[in-house]
Amino acid sequence: MKVGIVGWRGMVGSVLMQRMSAEKDFELFDAVFFSTSNAGGDAPQVARADRTLKDASDLKALAACDTIVTAQGGDYTNDVFPKLRAAGWKGYWIDAASALRMSDDAVIILDPVNLPVINDALARGVKDYIGSNCTVGLMLLALDGLLKADLIEWVSAMTYQAASGAGAPQMRELIEQMGQLHSSARDLLSDPASAILEIDHAVSMTLLSDQLPARSIGAPLAGSLIPWIHTDLGDGISGEERKAGAEANKILGRPAMGEPGSLIVEGLCVRVGAMRCHSQALTMKLRADLPLSEIEKILADANEWVTVISNNRDDSIRELSPAKVTGTMSIPIGRLRKLAMGPEYLSAFTVGDQLLWGAAEPLRRMLRLLLNKL
Ligand code: HSE
Repeated sequence: MKVGIVGWRGMVGSVLMQRMSAEKDFELFDAVFFSTSNAGGDAPQVARADRTLKDASDLKALAACDTIVTAQGGDYTNDVFPKLRAAGWKGYWIDAASALRMSDDAVIILDPVNLPVINDALARGVKDYIGSNCTVGLMLLALDGLLKADLIEWVSAMTYQAASGAGAPQMRELIEQMGQLHSSARDLLSDPASAILEIDHAVSMTLLSDQLPARSIGAPLAGSLIPWIHTDLGDGISGEERKAGAEANKILGRPAMGEPGSLIVEGLCVRVGAMRCHSQALTMKLRADLPLSEIEKILADANEWVTVISNNRDDSIRELSPAKVTGTMSIPIGRLRKLAMGPEYLSAFTVGDQLLWGAAEPLRRMLRLLLNKL
């Protein structure tokens, strides 16, 4: 198979390259690398057959590929994909961007959760396979066992989303904000006799001043949070929150949210000062009053990445944090407890790396599925 790779230098693309190299994926096919800015330059070492970068807008070069994997972003997809299909290209399109996600011709890929949906689509000749929204994907991986057993009536997710979900410039700016806050209080901090309210005042002034770097993020994030992610369509639900119900049901192969047989997914999405792990506090209504031990076993047995963390202080602090999970494939879920609302109500807290399982990993696994090598 000849596989075209676009957007491999961006943040998601770089994580994808790391994972594909680590798993020796490049030994399975001939990779052709494309570039939007450096056509004619040198392709990465892993390109065995063709060592020259192709132009990512060259439809003929793209159409020569059996499969295209792109992490270039939605604008690229919206520009190039329709032209390629209009020119008669029948290859597989594997994409990290959201542009095609809800299209009737596309399947959202999260194989540990929806392999039957993907296999059915492959058998029907579907050619467009799109990675999910990171928050949705990470939640479904964590709840995989309860979903497969159809035990969840509804789930509300209160998210704590990392800066990486907004982009690489936002990650840099978050650190700059942290540095600026520290600078504003450095002298006071170094004096053990200084008053904490003085330190707080200095930091608060910096948070609200024009001096705080906020060009990319648009607001203070270090030492604060942002309770809205993505677009405002005027009806009180953010773009990110709307994706949850829509994508979750599509991934699971269920009717659209609100229709009989659908999963109700609600919540509020919040940006916090974490680097690349999204966390989510979940409240669920189950369809049955199962013992907690049984719920834990169902969750833990669902896939090889989810781990149930005992609901106690030490384990929760040690295991259920962005700092612990970052850069790993692990999907810990903890804080599991029956709630006072009734025996079918369950709380949970889960964390996942939004660049790995939240973005890159499903793409490379889809490629392996096409090659029968998963
Ligand atoms: N929408 C996510 C976020 C990023 O802003 O955190 C990836 O889907």
